[in-house]
Amino acid sequence: MKGVILAGGMGTRLKPLTSITNKHLIGIFDKPMILYPLESLIKAGVKEILVVSGRENYGHFVEFLGSGSDYGANLTYKVQDKAGGIAEALGLAENFASGQPIIVILGDNLFEDSFSKYVKSFKNGARIFLKKVPDPERFGVPVLEGRKVLRILEKPQQPPTPYAVTGLYQYDSEVFKIIKKLKPSARGELEITDVNNAYIKKGRMLAEFLGGFWSDAGTFESLVTATQWAMEKGLKKVKK
Ligand code: G1P
Repeated sequence: MKGVILAGGMGTRLKPLTSITNKHLIGIFDKPMILYPLESLIKAGVKEILVVSGRENYGHFVEFLGSGSDYGANLTYKVQDKAGGIAEALGLAENFASGQPIIVILGDNLFEDSFSKYVKSFKNGARIFLKKVPDPERFGVPVLEGRKVLRILEKPQQPPTPYAVTGLYQYDSEVFKIIKKLKPSARGELEITDVNNAYIKKGRMLAEFLGGFWSDAGTFESLVTATQWAMEKGLKKVKK
């Protein structure tokens, strides 16, 4: 299965850290943020990976990651001209995917769980990954009936459940048809939540519940949470 890392956006919530440096190249413990999602994909056996980033910092990604051979991956790059949302960025992966299913990860998401079994078992439709969090109002939040997702609300003021829809997704090739039909949201972006709700409506969405650590790193607080986790994990490895 091919992978896509979405590393665009303005990083507005992290200014002035992101005034010059792209959010995904900021350090988390001992390495730039983007290496965490990249390594998660590679560990799951995903080696063909597309990195989508904005035009301002595109060169920095190529300079830092190169062909991907240092990491055992084969990297391709695409430029998103303007920050038009996660779903718009994903739309740029259509040729790369060439009709095959893809696994998509947001460049500011750190996961402890292994993706291997999800990569191996995916057939068609779509899959999202939920994680219990103390602050669901910051995320996409599922409305649940047991383990079934009825719909997803993007950053609801009153979250119906304590779960976040994490920045990890699996889609079949229909995702590109769905993206082409999307309308911009109130914040002027094509939302990944609208893509997921389209799959839910068709009854083609599966949800998994993650057990391990997960955090985004797009706010000062979550950047610290992610750094703390990465540091504890990193130091444990050194001691072994
Ligand atoms: C995005 C998605 C949201 C998801 C989150 C995970 O939010 O829109 O549904 O829960 O990523 O990190 P953003 O961080 O772009 O506001």
